[in-house]
Amino acid sequence: MSRMHILVIGGGGREHAIANAFAQSPKVDRVTVAPGNDGIALQFDTITLSTDQDVLQFCLRQKVDMVFIGPELPIEQGLSDFLRKEGIACIGASKAAGRIETSKVFAKDLMSRYRIPTASYVIACEYEQALDALGLFSYPLVIKADGLAAGKGVFVVQSSEVAQEVLSKLFVDKSLGISGQSVIIEEYMEGWEVSLFIITDGENFTSTVFSQDHKQLLDGDKGSNTGGMGAYAPVDEAEAYRDEINNNIVIPILKAMRAESCHFEGILYCGLMITDQGVKVVEFNCRLGDPETQAVLPLLKTDLVDICQAILTGQVNKLHLEWDQGCCISVVLASQGYPNQYVTGIPIFIDEPLESKIYFAGVRKIDESLVTNGGRVLNLVARGSDLKQARCTVYNEIGSKVKFGGMTYRRDIGMRCNTLIRTRTK
Ligand code: AMP
Ligand code: GLY
Repeated sequence: MSRMHILVIGGGGREHAIANAFAQSPKVDRVTVAPGNDGIALQFDTITLSTDQDVLQFCLRQKVDMVFIGPELPIEQGLSDFLRKEGIACIGASKAAGRIETSKVFAKDLMSRYRIPTASYVIACEYEQALDALGLFSYPLVIKADGLAAGKGVFVVQSSEVAQEVLSKLFVDKSLGISGQSVIIEEYMEGWEVSLFIITDGENFTSTVFSQDHKQLLDGDKGSNTGGMGAYAPVDEAEAYRDEINNNIVIPILKAMRAESCHFEGILYCGLMITDQGVKVVEFNCRLGDPETQAVLPLLKTDLVDICQAILTGQVNKLHLEWDQGCCISVVLASQGYPNQYVTGIPIFIDEPLESKIYFAGVRKIDESLVTNGGRVLNLVARGSDLKQARCTVYNEIGSKVKFGGMTYRRDIGMRCNTLIRTRTK
């Protein structure tokens, strides 16, 4: 068989890590990333493909063997359905299955009907109804916008004053547009979080090592929620819960989706809370997580092409994932001000050679130099025989070998103490 051309859709650190994993495969000779970014373009071909037709024409002209969709937005827009209809092999959930992420109301309703453990909740489609529902919960409680909000639609609130402010912003000011026109108000779950990626053809599944995101901006899990400030893998402490997760969450959700005629084919992200009452679902996503992918894929020994082919041919039951020993950590370097307003165009200093690897996110090139071009600028990723060693490598290079003005990052990625004693006082 001739070697493959893979097209990765997306332009962040996750897609850089995915492209890199494909590039390790002896079965692949070309990886293109669309749109990618100027940092990814240092290593891979990148191209802007604005419409579904552009993607299709590129696939046909450039003999793309497989498309891998990174982010949720193209899934919500139906890119995987379109490509599959045109006969292009594509890894990415269908639009219908993607609702598990793109509508939190859909996901909660499914979990409740199929008795999948999650926080108790109320759905509100109107401002007054939402205000009334606040009275059903004690504080802290959680308010979630229904639709996609790039990590900015979840509010853990400590008081009724703040809850009312959040609801007013969503319903009256329409701060998240239509994404915030239905909300979920839910019980705050006490516990520690892990992420797990499920690889599935809809029927059979296998899962990856556990990883852990750090969603809050500041050390000690304080400050506002972000798209993710760093991750590490594996999380060995979560292994004790794997059977419970499979039996109570993964098997039932895949079955539920089959029963609802939207079987899930691709990679299902489970965001989980380990609580005293067992493991509960925080959220499902219809794709790999960012920044967890940047910490998980470097440990993967199995060829990513083989994983994708098992999904496409309905043979995930034959897949046995193999992992490198040791740990991997990914620290996000963000712009000052993120996740709120931030400036861009700040020069990025990188002193090669590095022991860590860089997966670029919000960067662009001006006059042959990379400058910041987004909230999350890049991920610095290091492996080690254990977490301590991986942390040491990555943090030695941040600020000395990789830096930019206003660089903001967490110093405590991979320090388990945050998750075992969750202090949520802000
Ligand atoms: P989500 O986008 O639903 O994953 O929420 C973002 C983050 O908010 C999660 O990773 C948790 O840290 C936090 N969160 C969301 N829902 C809850 C909940 N019911 N209880 C506690 N924390 C939550
Ligand atoms: N790490 C959270 C997400 O990818 O949504």
